Amino acid sequence: MKYDYLVVGSGLFGAIFAHEATKKGKKVLVVDKRSNIAGNIYTKEVEGINVHEYGAHIFHTNNKKVWQYVNQFAEFNRFTNSPVANYKGELYSLPFNMYTFNKMWGVVTPEEATKKIEEQRKEITHEPTNLEEQAISLVGRDIYEKLIKGYTEKQWGRDCKDLPSFIIKRLPVRLTFDNNYFNALYQGIPVGGYTKMVENMLEGIEVRLNTDYLENKEELDQLADKVVYTGPIDAYFNYQLGTLEYRSVRFETELLDIPNFQGNAAVNYTDRETPWTRIIEHKWFEFGKDKDGNDIDKTVISREYSSEWKPGDEPYYPVNDERNNKLYAKYKELADQNGKVIFGGRLGMYKYFDMDAVIAEALNCVKENLGEQYDRDK
Ligand code: FDA
Repeated sequence: MKYDYLVVGSGLFGAIFAHEATKKGKKVLVVDKRSNIAGNIYTKEVEGINVHEYGAHIFHTNNKKVWQYVNQFAEFNRFTNSPVANYKGELYSLPFNMYTFNKMWGVVTPEEATKKIEEQRKEITHEPTNLEEQAISLVGRDIYEKLIKGYTEKQWGRDCKDLPSFIIKRLPVRLTFDNNYFNALYQGIPVGGYTKMVENMLEGIEVRLNTDYLENKEELDQLADKVVYTGPIDAYFNYQLGTLEYRSVRFETELLDIPNFQGNAAVNYTDRETPWTRIIEHKWFEFGKDKDGNDIDKTVISREYSSEWKPGDEPYYPVNDERNNKLYAKYKELADQNGKVIFGGRLGMYKYFDMDAVIAEALNCVKENLGEQYDRDK
């Protein structure tokens, strides 16, 4: 065989596996059906702005090992995710915190805010039977009406009264002036974009783009002893047991001839009438500066729409309900019987992973298949 490993997919999982295997002296070939590397974390430079083509990606983690690991491939900036909610032109801070409550009710102290929320929560006197009642019982009607209802209905394409209460278990309420969305020790965006970070992972490794593994399976399988497959698991088995479902997102991206559209990386539109769920203004992930530190006089925005997924569409979020989980378990059984192929990543394992989790999974997979090198639990 010409290669020890054929890695299918140059996303985060595939790139890390390829990097670590190469470091251990293995000969690796990476193929990707797209015309670019980096999978869903791909960023494309437009007018000096790194555009997140498959949705906003903010790196955040509490895992020190993962943070140290990823820092060898990129320097991270100090970006902190602090989204803003736009409800019919009224702007609120997210996640719900003292700035939000002050704007909503004019309250000034945490005690006043707590009193207001407690008063409004009392509206629901029975066990909540749907998402609307559940949300009101947790944070009261005002926050529900302005910041939860419309956004949730757009995401699910259904009325909150028709959605089950279990979708929302907790709604974090912060009685501090803290707009930092993620409770993570480490957070940032790789300087120069995610594509450059993945390029560094794949340095010196043979990569073939525009190459669909499943369409060239026989020929590619003959090239390597083992295959690491990070595409959809059901596609690998030709959907023989059925199709796993996803939720999808659609992006409308525009280059604008103005320097500043919304003054923040993410603005959520929380009313039902606005058709998009949020607008991302990519330059603010990097403080509006190009790679030389100069201000950029243009801007790129992406409107995000929640959309129904049908087979053939780009898969985004796995729908881990009972039907899909059972189906995945059956595919997993087939996968476990296949001694040649390792299934990894968000599509191969049919699971939503944040980037830090996919890195931990990839390193764990390296450890299992290539020996001691990293232990995510230590
Ligand atoms: P990924 O999908 O990136 O890579 C798989 C690769 O396999 C692709 O390049 C694909 O083309 C290739 N492939 C598939 N089938 C093939 C075939 N037959 N032949 C050849 N190649 C094939 N995480 C986070 O930490 N912070 C964030 O802010 C976000 N934001 C976010 C937004 C949205 C909208 C989504 C859907 C996800 C996030 N994430 C996130 C999660 C993040 O995107 C995720 O952790 C990684 O992209 C997963 O990397 P993988 O390598 O597993 O898959």
